Amino acid sequence: MDPLLALRPWQAPEVTSWGRLPMNAVDRRAGALKLDGDWRFQLLPTPHAPLADVWSSAYVPGVWTMQGTDDLPQYTNVRMPFAEFPPASPPADPTGVYEREVDVPAEWAGRRIVLQVGAAESVLLVHVDGRPVGVSKDSRLAAEFDLSAVVSPGERAVVRLTVVKWSDASHIEDQDQWWHGGITRSVLLYATDPLHLADVTVRAGRYGDLRVDCRVRDAGGALPEGWYVSGELAGHLLTQDTEFDRANAEDDRVSDFLGEARLLTTVADVRTWNAETPELYDLTVRLHRADGTVADASHHRVGFRDVEIDGRDLLVNGERVFIRGVNRHDFHPLTGRTVSYDDLRGDLALLKRFGFNAIRTSHYPNDPTLYDLADELGFYVVDEADIESHDHAHEIADDPRYLNAFVDRVARMVLRDKNHPSIIIWSLGNESDYGANHDAAAGWVRRHDPTRPLQYEGAAKLDWAATDDASDIACPMYAPIEDCVAHALSGRQTRPLIQCEYSHAMGNSNGTLADHWAAIESTPGLQGGFIWEFWDHGILQHVNDGRPVGRGGAGLYDNGVAAPGHRWAYGGDFGETIHDGAFIADGVVFPDRTPKPVMSEHREIAAPVRLECLRHEGVVVGNHQHFRGLDWLAAEWRLSLADGGTLTAPAELPDLRPGETAAVPLPFELPEDGGEAWLTLHVTTADDEPWAPRGTVVCVPQVRLRAAAPPSPPPPVRNRFVEVDGDGLLVHPLLTSAPTLSLWRAPTDNDELGGMAVNWRAWGLDALERKVVDVRRTDGRVTVAAEYAGETGVVRHTQVFTAVEGGIHIEESAELPDALTDVARVGSVFETVPGLDLMEWYGQGPWESYPDRAFGPPVGHHSVPVDELFTPYLRPQESGGRHGVRRFTLSAPDATGLTVALDEPRQVSVTRYRAEDLTSVAHHDELVPRSGCVVHLDAAHRGLGTASCGPDTSPPYLVAPGIHRWSWTLRAL
Ligand code: GAL
Ligand code: MG
Repeated sequence: MDPLLALRPWQAPEVTSWGRLPMNAVDRRAGALKLDGDWRFQLLPTPHAPLADVWSSAYVPGVWTMQGTDDLPQYTNVRMPFAEFPPASPPADPTGVYEREVDVPAEWAGRRIVLQVGAAESVLLVHVDGRPVGVSKDSRLAAEFDLSAVVSPGERAVVRLTVVKWSDASHIEDQDQWWHGGITRSVLLYATDPLHLADVTVRAGRYGDLRVDCRVRDAGGALPEGWYVSGELAGHLLTQDTEFDRANAEDDRVSDFLGEARLLTTVADVRTWNAETPELYDLTVRLHRADGTVADASHHRVGFRDVEIDGRDLLVNGERVFIRGVNRHDFHPLTGRTVSYDDLRGDLALLKRFGFNAIRTSHYPNDPTLYDLADELGFYVVDEADIESHDHAHEIADDPRYLNAFVDRVARMVLRDKNHPSIIIWSLGNESDYGANHDAAAGWVRRHDPTRPLQYEGAAKLDWAATDDASDIACPMYAPIEDCVAHALSGRQTRPLIQCEYSHAMGNSNGTLADHWAAIESTPGLQGGFIWEFWDHGILQHVNDGRPVGRGGAGLYDNGVAAPGHRWAYGGDFGETIHDGAFIADGVVFPDRTPKPVMSEHREIAAPVRLECLRHEGVVVGNHQHFRGLDWLAAEWRLSLADGGTLTAPAELPDLRPGETAAVPLPFELPEDGGEAWLTLHVTTADDEPWAPRGTVVCVPQVRLRAAAPPSPPPPVRNRFVEVDGDGLLVHPLLTSAPTLSLWRAPTDNDELGGMAVNWRAWGLDALERKVVDVRRTDGRVTVAAEYAGETGVVRHTQVFTAVEGGIHIEESAELPDALTDVARVGSVFETVPGLDLMEWYGQGPWESYPDRAFGPPVGHHSVPVDELFTPYLRPQESGGRHGVRRFTLSAPDATGLTVALDEPRQVSVTRYRAEDLTSVAHHDELVPRSGCVVHLDAAHRGLGTASCGPDTSPPYLVAPGIHRWSWTLRAL
């Protein structure tokens, strides 16, 4: 039997690798042969099953679960997809065998030849020409194997990669994401001189000090005489550290097989690296033979920066920076996990545009290109090791059989990524309890890289104030704002508090995000956090046969929506019996990276420029960055007048250093009349930035210059009664369904998982029975009293209709019994005739907002086609709302339509769907739009909160029982 199969490495947690080369930070991508493309492929039912004679093909890099096999993606959160306890894996264990010929270049004669498999999950076995070469686990890091002894330059070799899907390692790769099988990153073959750079470690501090440690190996055996290394930074040669050389020479532990050298320099007037101005310097390290010729070279981009913890502050270059982070998985709706340079650049550019400055690579080392781009575009990165044993966390954390794996995974991550200035913190992994295996890994990192802090949520959660665990940072997940503030004020805080996950973005969510930030910015000791998460992991799927579309599907989606006949699949959509449904769709972007409205909210919360009102005739402009002036920004003043449109004027941004403010005179004379007035600073990029073209909106901070006058209802038109039918329902030529009371919204994911929707259904709010009890016509007013009966008694609803100039004025009240402690909304719902396809409004906008997610959208005059008001969350739910609407029109292209004026700023939604349309289907593509508009005007609307995972909304955003009153005026255009 094949020795690698005989080892059964998939059931041996102690075995982390065999024949694998040590991890290092020398980038070999340039000059390598890329073995990507179609490989011969067979999917076996178990690793031991015999190979068939018939091969199909599979694309590398790629997962077979997305490439036409019957082994399809499966989504679970905590639960393992199989019943076996660690370290066992199930007997049915899909195993992919990939094979191809490789022509080894003749000019590689005499060189050291290395195969690099970028990532394979979960166990990789390598054979060349039938001979066993090596084994690797650790699915999200590369594995390298020295093939020099098994291939011959100028000849053809058959490379076979066998990938076993389930193993002991699956138990520590139990992250909340899709399960796949396959090879997810590129496969390379490269050659070096036998004398080669085995590793390079760069340390560069904010005062310009640079230290480069080079490790040299000679595959031939003995180290030749006279070798040396040189380093060149931006044209300047580094000096060799002779002290270091002498110490090495005297140290008999340095064997013949190993050479080490240290290069030093100090850069005067160094331009430091930080996320706002990510300055990089090019470094080339060369290994020379005795005659001076170059045997090997390694290129690096160096960022000079310091990270340190001072008390309870995390400092970058001495500054207490705010961490405006997001958790990001390597995800793609067509490939599963394989991401290209363009994909990654797209992700990071988008994050920059929406004010993010930090990424946690939840929950494993990401594609190497991510870190290059984070260095270049400017992100603070928490680099996380590929360890999550969620389902069996407690057993595994102290299980000595997994000790190697813990240390190996953490160490390999650090060895690969240590030279990236963007990485400011190492993370030991996620949701794996806390045990001796963590402390072992922590010990390794603290010794190997004392320049960065270490974090691990599972350790720090036991006591945020502890000082002796495996975490230098208190990094809780989903902690309530009050708890964070209380800890910071307790006097017990010992370390920075930066939430590793907060504000769960499932469906229509992220309520109270601005409240988090108000607390963070005003409380010393709080420094930010990482939103959960970037992606909605919807896989593009054919609706007819339920198969993933796969690599060829580009163009089959747009603006967050799958093309007809397709949908974004979530848990259960591939016929899985064990799955966790739509919990996989919890990102701030759709599966095609279309930003959700919360992204705009975040952009405003993170605004680098802020405005405040001065008491007299002016405003204060502030620079809220840590390192940068305002010279990279351009701006324009906009004055939005409730009754006078929008005026614009050029804005000159003051010359402000970080943290400074300046008073500037008002750019406009306020007209005497004209009601409410809002001043906005429309801030854009002044030049092309690497992440956004010139003119991209950066933020739109706003202050109110004048409040609205108290509303006075329009005068009645004498002797005319508004028409209502026998049920007391308004009769109006523009309405196909009269305004009735609504206490219900299609439950959001937060409403469902947080338990609110259960109550609402139990109370009967989704199907209230309306009964008219009285219709009275007095003084030109029609008063309709109705009762809405649910399971907790009756809600009394009154509508008073008055004919006014050009339309109808409607005053409403609803009295909720005390038992209705927490409802979704109190308001009116009606439907319009078809054809009114444009909504124009004065209020907050233009993007979707809710009472607890309404910090960002400025008050102004907005205009959006009705079909674009709705946000297509993967699982249909309440969506499309606009907060703070004062008045709006719905019009047809010929300018006919209706207008509604509200008594005060209200929550309004105009969509094509009734709440029951949204609740009756499970996917967006199943929705059937109505031809008219469904309009909700809410006297009160519940906040969104984040209760699908984490705190619900705060009390001020709840809808209380008792009497609610609202009024509005409806006119034809
Ligand atoms: C966290 C976990 C994440 C994800 C999230 C819920 O507990 O670390 O991986 O499961 O909850 O979406
Ligand atoms: Mg988990």
